[in-house]
Amino acid sequence: MTMLPTIVNYQRHVIICAGKTCDSTGDRTLVHYLKSELEARGIGSDRVRVNRAGCLGVCTQGAIMCIYPEAVWYCRIDQASIDRIIDTHLIGGDVVTDLVMHRNQYDAPMGSQP
Ligand code: FES
Repeated sequence: MTMLPTIVNYQRHVIICAGKTCDSTGDRTLVHYLKSELEARGIGSDRVRVNRAGCLGVCTQGAIMCIYPEAVWYCRIDQASIDRIIDTHLIGGDVVTDLVMHRNQYDAPMGSQP
């Protein structure tokens, strides 16, 4: 039997777009910035898990960052907004409403029509 990997019980999952429009230089500046600012605040991957994604399909609003379990999609993020999101959302627990593009609702049962 194959052993499954162990995943710690992290508190938030952040997905940041590193697609060609959101990361036009291809150097993952925002991903690196987010990780370094989390580290500077003493927040490790055991609390906030960060993954980059390819295009999330809303390039005109990029750069895009999604945070779960709140299912919040932040748009037009830059380094200044990353600082706000870390301090207000990831540390403070409050959504940064003026940066929200979409907040998914999970109250409909799977397979139902919206
Ligand atoms: S490249 Fe980021 S949403 Fe398309």
